Amino acid sequence: MTLTFLGIESSCDDSAAAVVRTAVAGGVPRILSSVVAGQTGLHAAFGGIVPEIAARAHAETLDHCVEAALTDADVGLRDLDGIAVTAGPGLIGGVMAGVMLAKGLAAGTGLPLVGVNHLAGHALTPRLTDAVAFPYLMLLVSGGHCQFLLVQGPDAFTRLGGTIDDAPGEAFDKVAKLLGLGQPGGPAVEAEAAHGDPTRVPLPRPLLDRAGCDLSFSGLKTAVLRARDTAVVRAGGLTRADRADICASFQAAVAEVLAEKTRRALEAAPVPLLTVAGGVAANATIRAALAAQADTAGVRFLAPPLALCTDNGAIIAWAGIERFRLGQRDGMDLAARPRWPLDQGAAPMLGTGKRGAKA
Ligand code: KG4
Ligand code: ZN
Repeated sequence: MTLTFLGIESSCDDSAAAVVRTAVAGGVPRILSSVVAGQTGLHAAFGGIVPEIAARAHAETLDHCVEAALTDADVGLRDLDGIAVTAGPGLIGGVMAGVMLAKGLAAGTGLPLVGVNHLAGHALTPRLTDAVAFPYLMLLVSGGHCQFLLVQGPDAFTRLGGTIDDAPGEAFDKVAKLLGLGQPGGPAVEAEAAHGDPTRVPLPRPLLDRAGCDLSFSGLKTAVLRARDTAVVRAGGLTRADRADICASFQAAVAEVLAEKTRRALEAAPVPLLTVAGGVAANATIRAALAAQADTAGVRFLAPPLALCTDNGAIIAWAGIERFRLGQRDGMDLAARPRWPLDQGAAPMLGTGKRGAKA
């Protein structure tokens, strides 16, 4: 006996659909297909994601993604056991495009509809890739999100801390812009940092003086702006060496802060596994800092493959299966939600950011 789900994702700037199959008895699930259509080109001229353009592109692209995902998986709609869709949090126009498509498919086929919290999709990814057991600690670090989650069940999340302003990916993107590097900023800054000196430019380590696991990246970005201006005044322009040193110093500051807050999170929630998700998890320096922290604490470290760390339909299909197994379904009244904290008991975080709500 198997369960096969279609997953639809459209909460930010990736239109995505995937088919995931799992044995009812358990074991590692199989991703039968995963199609992701990015929108980087559409937003490039605007220096950030334009929600209206994103929503329109999702509405135009999603059904093609679904068709391609079914074809790649070699399954028809009648082979599915359910349809999972991101119902929030995110840019509302995009979320609505996905929810409407999923409702149409569910109404037309009679298949169960399961609305998924996008953050749950990320938080449950290690169970999709490695069938890990609960509980574990998840550090979600992307362009729109930054939080420590204690994951105790498919529907049981405790937020131990998160950013009070920018997400780290957002900070990488802004720093890249300040230094004249391309977007997305993360990979560009990391490439520059590779030949820079991480100790040369003194930068703050925000919120290390405050107890707990909350983080802040907006002051770090402002400090980079000042460091750039100082370098420009001194040399009459930004030299390649200065740019590389600023990138390396910024990356080192982010890695150090994330590592220290991870240490505290593991202290607060001593679990056997530390996992990470989100585009920033691609950063080798940050990964190494987290792995070292896990090693010191004597816990296992697991980073899913990058294609599953970033937004995709497979993590949504999987989170849908997890909810479905708990007997949870949604009706035609499923709402698209711009904000939807995973941990309903936690205090709301500040800021909504360019990529939508942070929690
Ligand atoms: O998870 P993701 O693909 O999209 C969402 O934010 O939803 O993450 C994208 C973010 C961007 O801000 C990008 O600059 C950052 O992840 N990123 C990185 C790296 N690769 C991507 N940040 C630091 N180092 C990287 N190598
Ligand atoms: Zn995401």
